[in-house]
Amino acid sequence: MASASDPCSFSSISKCLTKHLNLTYNVDFERHVLKSKVALTIEVLEDHFSSLTLDTKDLKITKVTANGQAAKFALGPKHSYMGTPLEITLPFDLSRGQHVIVEVTYDTAPTASALQWLTPEQTAGKKHPYLFSQCQANHCRSMVPCQDSPSVKHTYYAQVSVPKELVAVMSAVRDGQVPDPQDNSRVIYRFRQPVPMPSYLIAIVVGALESREIGPRSRVWSEKEFVDQAAFEFSETETMLKTAEDLAGPYVWGHYDILVLPPSFPYGGMENPCLTFATPTLLAGDRSLSNVIAHEISHSWTGNLVTNKTWEHFWLNEGHTVYLERMIGRCMESEQFRQFKAIGGWKDLQEAVNTFGANNPLTNLVPDLKEVDPDDAFSSVPYEKGFALLYHLEELLGGPEVFMAFVKSYIQMFAYSSVTTEEWKNYLFTYFKDKVDILNKVDWNAWMRTPGMPPFKPQYDTTMADACVSLCQRWVKAKEGDLAGFSGADLKILSSHQLIEFLSLLLQEELIPLTHVKRMQEVYNFNTYNNSEIHFRWLRLCVKSRWEEQVPLALKMATDQGRMKFTRPLFRDVFGFGKFRDEAVRVFQAHRAAMHPVTAGLVAKDLKVDVGNITSF
Ligand code: BES
Ligand code: ZN
Repeated sequence: MASASDPCSFSSISKCLTKHLNLTYNVDFERHVLKSKVALTIEVLEDHFSSLTLDTKDLKITKVTANGQAAKFALGPKHSYMGTPLEITLPFDLSRGQHVIVEVTYDTAPTASALQWLTPEQTAGKKHPYLFSQCQANHCRSMVPCQDSPSVKHTYYAQVSVPKELVAVMSAVRDGQVPDPQDNSRVIYRFRQPVPMPSYLIAIVVGALESREIGPRSRVWSEKEFVDQAAFEFSETETMLKTAEDLAGPYVWGHYDILVLPPSFPYGGMENPCLTFATPTLLAGDRSLSNVIAHEISHSWTGNLVTNKTWEHFWLNEGHTVYLERMIGRCMESEQFRQFKAIGGWKDLQEAVNTFGANNPLTNLVPDLKEVDPDDAFSSVPYEKGFALLYHLEELLGGPEVFMAFVKSYIQMFAYSSVTTEEWKNYLFTYFKDKVDILNKVDWNAWMRTPGMPPFKPQYDTTMADACVSLCQRWVKAKEGDLAGFSGADLKILSSHQLIEFLSLLLQEELIPLTHVKRMQEVYNFNTYNNSEIHFRWLRLCVKSRWEEQVPLALKMATDQGRMKFTRPLFRDVFGFGKFRDEAVRVFQAHRAAMHPVTAGLVAKDLKVDVGNITSF
């Protein structure tokens, strides 16, 4: 049974808590296995304590000890996405307040859902293999047996043995390297994370990595082919960090590095402490996608310092982080820019609600995740419904300065802990004790526990959006005879942010005739745009308007990179274009083995591949 306080974990979180984790990995690129040992320092919370349960997923466990003595262990039944509970019986009894060191020796599975093992051909350099992890939400258990719940926070230390031509980095401070005493073809990299953090933030990458300094506390890491481009793209990092510190308080994690991953990395960014992971699709060449870095930097406070207690409260992580990200945009750019981004966010929310269906309980701000895989529940809803709620409160309670002061105080209050929506709301009412009548007028149930769009739509400033709306309307209203009136000059006044918004608006329209979309290619030549957010929306528009010759380009983008935000809608759109349904499935099957395990699993569900063949439990 899942833990009473966390529907996504089997581990015993009410009886004991992990305080520290000491990891030893030997990375085996031949077998795609991490030969591993972990020592968990566990604090006991009750008397007569003699057993505990850890989360695992596809681990091969060979030995468990407690304070050095052999301990009995047994694996429970396998659950489809939660993995297998590991029941450990101690050879002694402990009392409340005591500590025990539980050591587990194990191998990870080649199919571990947290890991993607890349062949040299799948890397930019083509010479060396590559390994990366992505633990959020429930995948850490496939690389470490642990209390895999964001309600538990611990420090960690790690030693990683890798072939000496490769480099290992982790979500921690680098603590030097030594030759592997067991094998002179290998090196051991060491890491320490002295700030307590949840298991989902453990992260590792091994590859032919290089790095370059981009600020007093920051380097960019990637294969050498991308280091210079990345250093240019993310050169605003230190300014963003300083801006975030002014808004939210001191940055406690020491270093802030960015690692640019291979194209199959499934997310835009991941806030791994000390080392944000980023997709190479952010390398637009003009820094126009750097809001993703502002977003991941913001998680250093909302998410990594103050953490959602379970994935049901994920909006606390993402809603506040989007709010902070846009505050950074406000400081570095303008208030109008923040308002413009908020308009785009509302549209993303509308699309997510349309995709899930307006009655789908997964569109609640606080969904019930009993027997729901958080990867299936993932969408823009916690981000944008969360942001809309915070912005609504900002307007009600006195504006950006007043509300930002609350967010900063919330961060101070709950730093180093994990919180529920209830605790957040109680603190809001305490902080604004003089404005309780205003707060009582908010329809909390509609915002938090009702599916569909929010009960209130904020009025955002449209200064920057107006040019996008008017160009979109020109295309929507144009008859075939009007098409000659469009020219490349139409785009002169639009920034790349506005181009993205223009294409998003077109995508929201019923249908743009094929003649129009073809003319758009003639005059704007969107096929040649390298900006991933532009290219993605353009190809979706072409598929939606049934432009057959563009389908191969859509499938190419879906497979050339694996960011789920792009790959899933592109596959889904082509699959929905009747004539090309089989082609979408065929291309997916051909690439499946080379795809990230989580992405492959979700695209398979989207394309209804292997239904009836899914093994649960
Ligand atoms: N923490 C998320 C990514 C994530 C969420 C991974 C849930 C696994 C499960 C990260 O901070 C994020 O939100 N990334 C966005 C950035 C965007 C909102 C600016 C992305 O990947 O696009
Ligand atoms: Zn985020």
